[in-house]
Amino acid sequence: MQISFAAPASITSGAWIVAAAEGGTLLPGAVKADKAGGGILTRALKVSRFAGKAGEILEVLAPAGMQASRLLLVGLGKPEALDAKSVELLGAQIADKLLAAGETAATLEIDLPKGAPLRRPALAAHLAYGLRLKSYAFDKYRTQRLDEYKKSLARVTVATKDPAAAKSAHIALAAVADGVFFARDLVNEPPNILYPAEFARRAKAALTKLGVRVEILGEAEMKRQGFGALLGVGQGSGRESQLVVMRWNGAGRAKGKAKAPVALVGKGVCFDSGGLSLKPGAGMMGMKGDMAGAAAVTGAMMALAARKAKVNAVAVVGLVENMPDGGAIRPDDVLTSLSGQTIEVLNTDAEGRLVLADALTYTQRRFRPRCVIDLATLTGAIVQALGFEHAGVFSNDDTLAGRLAEAGRDTGERVWRLPLDPAYDKMIRSKIADVKNIGGPNSGSITAAQFLARFIEKGTVWAHLDIAGVAWQDGEQRPLVPSWGTGWGVKLLDRLIAEHYE
Ligand code: BES
Ligand code: MN
Ligand code: ZN
Repeated sequence: MQISFAAPASITSGAWIVAAAEGGTLLPGAVKADKAGGGILTRALKVSRFAGKAGEILEVLAPAGMQASRLLLVGLGKPEALDAKSVELLGAQIADKLLAAGETAATLEIDLPKGAPLRRPALAAHLAYGLRLKSYAFDKYRTQRLDEYKKSLARVTVATKDPAAAKSAHIALAAVADGVFFARDLVNEPPNILYPAEFARRAKAALTKLGVRVEILGEAEMKRQGFGALLGVGQGSGRESQLVVMRWNGAGRAKGKAKAPVALVGKGVCFDSGGLSLKPGAGMMGMKGDMAGAAAVTGAMMALAARKAKVNAVAVVGLVENMPDGGAIRPDDVLTSLSGQTIEVLNTDAEGRLVLADALTYTQRRFRPRCVIDLATLTGAIVQALGFEHAGVFSNDDTLAGRLAEAGRDTGERVWRLPLDPAYDKMIRSKIADVKNIGGPNSGSITAAQFLARFIEKGTVWAHLDIAGVAWQDGEQRPLVPSWGTGWGVKLLDRLIAEHYE
């Protein structure tokens, strides 16, 4: 779908979208459309219940005497509530109405109502952004599709009085949308196609082009360096484990020294069968998405590079497949992690924390980062606790936790803080090693986070996001997300960095 910005002009074809304020008052674009159709909207309003509330849409097909193929009157609701987020939602609602309606072109002429807390270029840019996010589809494996589901909308013009300013405001948003789409693609790909080496290859191909330095470590190199925990998880699979290191140096150097980076770490389990502690059939479905943390941090790096963010950032993703072949780790095995700490594996399905342990150690030792944020589909328990509306956040730093909460509210990718506390350490005490990888039946997300905390070095500012509930969706839980993989985290990380680290 191609999106452009232009000064308002007369509409000669396609859908024409205009707006009304709360109460049903037509805004200037709608007045113009009403006149062009000889009072068509005024008459339509009389016979409908349209009241201009946010999200309401009144549709007139084949309006008599007009060249447009249809007219959409959208409600903007209360002007003071019309912020960037609600404008994106409006864009998505318009997209939803038009994408598969058989329409190929649309022109949005949505005026800024008085009292709205944003400017005209931002209104246009965020409308386009919402439309774009909703237009995503993952159809590459369909060979047949009923016409009625085919997306026809190809060209969208956002009419605005200052198209140049709208276009420049849209550039950064389009970069973030690219990152979100990249992450969604990675999550949606089936695990026979997207295994660790393939993930690494795609990340390298896409990010190198944008100026990100990408290194890939294979099993031999990781073995040499001592990644015993990560490699343990991958050893029951025929696919080679990988570590991908991505570096974006947008802030350059201060006094000849590169500024310490913000570090992002992702769990990249390309398929989680549970290993020898095999998952039951129903619980295994969807476990192709167990690399969503890795996908989100990779997508975030794409967004940062594509919008040339003035920040130094690194992302490290541990990529493995958790499978149960004859070489697999057993419950009772003891692994030696990269940190030197030993881990008693009592359940091979608690594998994400093993992958993260080594990825976290590597990241801290190599980069001495300003802060480390890891994203992982780590526990089913977080879904029980928070459902699909919030990711869990655990942090050793109140400032970072607060910033994440704020960035979450701004982007709609919300997080809820849960405790880290040494009192939980007794639940992961091992009888023979430094720590065990499960904590018993209660507070599973907290014991998982407490396990990760063992691998955080003194002085490292750290947050862990458990995204098991938000990384994918079965129904349509999120209005801006039309696919299974949500790409959750890309917008959040981009916003966090834009607000506090650039
Ligand atoms: N990948 C799963 C967590 C998960 C569950 C993500 C459901 C998304 C939806 C993780 O590796 C896992 O299996 N965790 C176990 C931990 C347990 C064995 C301590 C879990 O949550 O049951
Ligand atoms: Mn698991
Ligand atoms: Zn897992």
